[in-house]
Amino acid sequence: MKGPCAVAVVVVVALINLSEGFQPRRIMFARCSSEEQVPRALFMTCANRHGVCEVRLGQSHNLRAIFIPQLNSSDVDSYVRWNGWMEIPLPDQQRDACDGELACPLVAGQMTQFTYSLQIQNFWPRKEYPVIWSLTDRKTDEPLLCFKFKINII
Ligand SMILES: *[C@@H]1O[C@H](CO)[C@@H](O)[C@H](O)[C@H]1NC(C)=O
Repeated sequence: MKGPCAVAVVVVVALINLSEGFQPRRIMFARCSSEEQVPRALFMTCANRHGVCEVRLGQSHNLRAIFIPQLNSSDVDSYVRWNGWMEIPLPDQQRDACDGELACPLVAGQMTQFTYSLQIQNFWPRKEYPVIWSLTDRKTDEPLLCFKFKINII
């Protein structure tokens, strides 16, 4: 492919990226407990540039956690829930993280990337939500990663 055709493809790709809108940025998180590993860095595509990550009703927002597992694992459970006065699992979540969100098997000591497309369903009331997210080895039930953060549904 050359010339005008290649230019057209580049322009179309750029437009598609623009229409998806949000750029990933680093977001703050907290530790779940002293036993659990936290990410080296956490990124999310937010609707705002600073502060608590704003997400839009009816949209998908991508989350990316970089971490170094301390265990080998070939079967990983991803579990995300609202962390209010009781924990409420997010509906329709993709629990099998080895099915596209992680490169499995995880190798202990190796830099690993977890990516997840979080769909914000239309029925959630607009407000700020604390979220807790954990990755667990399914065979041993050992925690691999856990972090807490906030999103603001707008
Ligand atoms: C993880 O697996 C690798 C081989 O892939 C092995 O060399 C290593 O000893 C294993 N580590 C643990 C903690 O089981």
